[in-house]
Amino acid sequence: MKIFIDTANIDEIRRAADMGIVAGVTTNPSLVAREGRDFKETLKEILEIVGGPVSAEVVSTDSEGMVGEGVELASIHKNIVIKVPLTEEGLKATKIMSSKGIRVNVTLIFTPSQALLAARAGAAYVSPFVGRLDDIGERGMEVVRRTAEIFKLHDIKAEIISASIRSPQAAIESAEAGAHIGTLPFKVIEKMLYHHLTDAGLEKFLADWKKFSER
Ligand code: E4P
Repeated sequence: MKIFIDTANIDEIRRAADMGIVAGVTTNPSLVAREGRDFKETLKEILEIVGGPVSAEVVSTDSEGMVGEGVELASIHKNIVIKVPLTEEGLKATKIMSSKGIRVNVTLIFTPSQALLAARAGAAYVSPFVGRLDDIGERGMEVVRRTAEIFKLHDIKAEIISASIRSPQAAIESAEAGAHIGTLPFKVIEKMLYHHLTDAGLEKFLADWKKFSER
């Protein structure tokens, strides 16, 4: 499973990219609004840091508006992927943009059937939201697992981005469930890094080395 970072925060993207773990970035209107900066400028800065797909979401709700926004955003850089919501208009926009060679990430997916529709409309990526399903007492990871099974069975090329991930456990379960990509908030990446035995082990190695080198 490849790792994307799910943020529009430049410092977080830079820190994750410096660790060499990040293959792409996903943003959404809430994440961009949180940073309070110009959308296109933010995207350009992200594109300079990460040499992989960067998802930029449209805010129109009609297909014509989505395509208009998508074509403009995609013209910024070849690595821009246009994110559209899983609605009828979103699927129409996916069909139009994919036929123009623009890669589309269909977002706000909560069932395998939505994922199948998105893929058949031409999506390059489908994004099931695991955490938001868990929040309402459903099993979000089942959507990833079943979608992965269906895509494999029918040789569907769209990549599954396991999204709305709130813990290291959900990140690893995404990989086990067959997600091609996990898009992770920086705080989840930080938690994945940590184990108290790593810290304790390092402390002991350094203490032993100090004793040895001062003998
Ligand atoms: C994915 O593309 C979305 O930006 C994101 O994962 C949503 O996560 P949330 O449910 O924590 O807001």
